[in-house]
Amino acid sequence: MTEVMRAADLLRAGDLVAFPTETVYGLGADASNPQAVARIFAAKGRPADHPLIVHLPDASHLVRWAVDIPPAAHRLATAFWPGPLTLILKRQASVLDAVTGGQDTVGLRVPNHPLALQLLREFDSGVAAPSANRFGRISPTTAEHVRAELDDTVALILDGGPCAVGIESTILDLSQATARILRPGMLDAKSLAAVLGYSPEFGGTQNAPRVSGSLETHYAPQTPLRLAAADDLAEAVRKARGNGLRVAVLAAGQAASGDERLTWRTAAADPEHFAHDLYARLRELDALGVDLILVAAPPGDECWRAVADRLNRAAAGSK
Ligand code: TXA
Ligand code: MG
Repeated sequence: MTEVMRAADLLRAGDLVAFPTETVYGLGADASNPQAVARIFAAKGRPADHPLIVHLPDASHLVRWAVDIPPAAHRLATAFWPGPLTLILKRQASVLDAVTGGQDTVGLRVPNHPLALQLLREFDSGVAAPSANRFGRISPTTAEHVRAELDDTVALILDGGPCAVGIESTILDLSQATARILRPGMLDAKSLAAVLGYSPEFGGTQNAPRVSGSLETHYAPQTPLRLAAADDLAEAVRKARGNGLRVAVLAAGQAASGDERLTWRTAAADPEHFAHDLYARLRELDALGVDLILVAAPPGDECWRAVADRLNRAAAGSK
């Protein structure tokens, strides 16, 4: 029996299986099994009203989970699945409340990773999977990250190497008259607009579905984290050091040499590489035991939006 077959058997038995996707690692359970889904919430320490994304082997499974599927959903699925896009659609009545957070919508996506697709095809049904981290913490982008946080609660961790994208999928709400981006991701608004025929707006409306990733503090290291405008970074470092703080910096360029109490990690200059490295870097800097993580704020350009979103949330708990 292959490891993927064993993983599918564990899912059928109601166990948790962590698996790689192109965005981050997921903590998977049979989305149709209430006990299995309950295990996800227990393992993560996640509030029960936070909905989960159901992962599917391909777009033909959409109709088993959603109703009133608008033509745009099929066009987007054709264009971007498998890929880092989650669609929020009206749910089938049979979808568990524990999966939808009691809402009348369900989040669905086909991930683009060979191991994930093998697992989903072998399982041949929906796998509910949040990011495989403890609630509110940094999402895992390697199997090692999952092991560090959830080893005692998962039956198996499929190791597919580092995730290619590195931050979570773009969440697009298609359950209302016009599409809205509830969580920005590396699949950007412009690409979605090309298929939708109009530019989706950002953020939920009052009756829009809830997104836990939209809590202000999320994806956060335990060390206080602050963003500094690139121009103010040197001054911010100087000031923190002047106050006797041990500082770790994530920014372009190099550290002024000779300060052993200052750790400097050079950040990628383009959003794709920055996103790819972001969570591993934050974990690494968090583990140093410094007093402060300083990150150079990304440019305001649209292509940096998803990265800026995660950094702002990481910083929000530290104010
Ligand atoms: O890239 C990803 O999306 C990763 C990988 C594992 O697929 N998953 C992920 O799951 O980020 P999680 O649970 O960490 O974040 C899922 C987000 C949450 O913010 C949740 O509130 C939102 O999706 N969500 C799920 N179902 C929803 C629904 N019916 N309405 C609104 N938001 C929903
Ligand atoms: Mg998450």
